[in-house]
Amino acid sequence: MSPTAFASLGPSAYWYLARGTGAVALILLTLSVILGVLGSLRFAAPPRWPRFAIDALHRDASLLVLAVLVIHIVTSVLDGFAPIKLLDSVIPFDSRYRPLWLGLGALSFDLLIALTITSLLRRRLGYGAWRAIHWLAYASWPVAVLHGLGTGSDVKVWWMLALTAACVAAVVVAVWIRIFKAQPEIAGGRPAAFVLSISALIALAAFALLGPLQRGWARRAGTPTTLLAAHATAAGPSPAGASRASAGQQRGVTAATSPVQRSFSARLTGTLTQHLVANGAILDLALRMTGGMQGRLRVRLAGAPLPGGGLSMTGSQVDLAPAGAPSVLEGRIVALQGQRFVARVSEHGRAGVELRANMSIDGGGGVLGTLSGTPQGAP
Ligand code: HEM
Repeated sequence: MSPTAFASLGPSAYWYLARGTGAVALILLTLSVILGVLGSLRFAAPPRWPRFAIDALHRDASLLVLAVLVIHIVTSVLDGFAPIKLLDSVIPFDSRYRPLWLGLGALSFDLLIALTITSLLRRRLGYGAWRAIHWLAYASWPVAVLHGLGTGSDVKVWWMLALTAACVAAVVVAVWIRIFKAQPEIAGGRPAAFVLSISALIALAAFALLGPLQRGWARRAGTPTTLLAAHATAAGPSPAGASRASAGQQRGVTAATSPVQRSFSARLTGTLTQHLVANGAILDLALRMTGGMQGRLRVRLAGAPLPGGGLSMTGSQVDLAPAGAPSVLEGRIVALQGQRFVARVSEHGRAGVELRANMSIDGGGGVLGTLSGTPQGAP
């Protein structure tokens, strides 16, 4: 993806990328851990893969994790919804957003960096020191699992739960195979290892059930109160889904009805920023809604500048985030005239809403305006 294309992604694209790369990083890290754990069995059981092939796969998976994590971190920061700084990705437990759970991600990342550096310096370090650090690096996996459960927006979605459960099951089975097959001389320790791993599984399941899968986890996890919905709006569901969702970003999660069920009109205040790109310009409107609807409206407009001012629109993205709603309605501008536009937004094929905005934009990029919304029924 070119830097220009990357820079022109909308806020929700960053968010989708952050979630997608989180899932991919977890899969790759799991693969790397399994290959590391089972590596010593390579000659003991079929298929008899050559040692160099397993080692190369293990190393490549680990390096790929780092590459995917860089995108995961950058998109988490660029998303801009939560106050996450680049430094939060390496300094654990200091972020304003879910410090413990984001901090576990940073810790996991730090361990992986330490692992990579020491692997590069393996000859200089000596085998003993390198191996000690390598064992420590295995800790990055459970820490990352806890991070994903504690911060992820998709934690309640079945596929993310299934993915996490499959990763955990795969590593546990690999550890059992390693313990039970590879080292007959430590047979006495097998029951203890078995009990320990079962206890860890039960503890993890209990944590998920009592923590992230419960209502109100966002608050308990340390989401800044400014991001949490105060109360459900008349039209919106309860703040129960107030995980990241509370400010309306839990797109794709389980809202049964649209957050907007009746017509409304609201005041708009905010800012307009403009970025020049290779083939035109991108305008970003970051607006706050007050009055008949509280929340945020984000509009991104791409186009070619017209002589004498204005923009010939080539693409647009509109995100309506009612306060307290568990999801954002997304859509596009369907008509644009001067500083007015009509947009249609909807939530995953459910009920759609027509938005009509009338704005006045001052020379400094300040925006004042009005917005009306009319539910259209299921599109
Ligand atoms: C080994 C390191 C890491 C792994 C394997 C990992 C993996 C994950 C996973 C699986 C999720 C859940 C995604 C979802 O629910 O859709 C997640 C969420 C998240 N991660 Fe990471 N992560 C790591 C490190 C980090 C770091 C260092 C940061 C620092 C910026 C970070 C920021 C986030 C954020 C902000 C979310 C929430 C995204 C959302 O709204 O769903 N992660 N991560």
